[in-house]
Amino acid sequence: MHDLREFIEGLPKAELHLHIEGSFEPELMFELARRNAVPLGYASVEQLREAYAFSQLQDFLDIYYQGMSVLLEEQDFYDLTRAYLQRVHAQNVRHVELFFDPQGHTDRGVAFTTVIDGIWRALQDSQREHGISACLIMCFLRHLDQNSAMRTFEQSLAHRDRITGVGLDSSEIGHPPSKFADVFARAREAGFRVVAHAGEEGPPAYVHEALDILRVQRIDHGNRALEDPALVERLVSEAIPLTVCPLSNLRLCVVDDLRNHPLKQMLALGLRATVNSDDPAYFGGYMNENYLAVQEALELTREDIVTLARNGFEAAFIDAPRRQALLHELDRYVATQ
Ligand code: HPA
Ligand code: ZN
Repeated sequence: MHDLREFIEGLPKAELHLHIEGSFEPELMFELARRNAVPLGYASVEQLREAYAFSQLQDFLDIYYQGMSVLLEEQDFYDLTRAYLQRVHAQNVRHVELFFDPQGHTDRGVAFTTVIDGIWRALQDSQREHGISACLIMCFLRHLDQNSAMRTFEQSLAHRDRITGVGLDSSEIGHPPSKFADVFARAREAGFRVVAHAGEEGPPAYVHEALDILRVQRIDHGNRALEDPALVERLVSEAIPLTVCPLSNLRLCVVDDLRNHPLKQMLALGLRATVNSDDPAYFGGYMNENYLAVQEALELTREDIVTLARNGFEAAFIDAPRRQALLHELDRYVATQ
């Protein structure tokens, strides 16, 4: 285990499932609340952290939207993104694909451009300073209606060159992928990559819909796909990556114990599973903590760990030269450790 800890810490990794608003650490949240004179509703960092006891996705989402309400200025989005990138740089994360929730900001009167300008400036600084490659995936909030998603999509077109893909997040049950068929069709026509959260709390039918109707290229989470053997077979044969988030699954009670987490089974079935942090400030860990926790709970081997890291680079929305470079970095690391 000790050897594997060091191996995991130094391993070059890709993070493909990260909500930037979910990387908002309470200390920074308090600082920005003060800077912007926005009341937070908690007396201290400790009291806020105590509220992070969730029994389902919605419990988390309620606090997550409350937390992001202190983000107002371009500099706030820069500081948030910069802090995340500094943390994962220290964990040898080499490529990141960040989700952001424009409606969580525009519905509060913050301009789309304020959000994306701040995030983008931080991505560029980290690319220059640390060599981390990055891209942005704009998520639609599925608890809102498709008209709202469509308006957001139209606003995003002014920033087309800075947005790689579209995704779907927030409250899953009762909001199936089919609700967003039209906006995803428009996004595909405009050349965006497409992903969606499915099968986190929702049934396997939502994973089918994400594939059939939204035509996603990856499934975010996908845990409940395992309940449907024909769906598993399809995910394997079509090589659809799953962006799995172990500590998120534990904290949101998608699994009762990490020893019962399906990640090892996913690998055994031939699914292209990757490890990610989802909302690290809320779920108790960034990339390395997620890798370490599942390694220990599921007794993953060094080969399993390398497969997970390789899957991350193979599933990333990057061009061939960057993928080659990252896979080469991984191979070199494995050969020398
Ligand atoms: N699931 C759905 N929506 C989300 C999540 C999640 O884990 N994190 C942020 N928005
Ligand atoms: Zn997520």
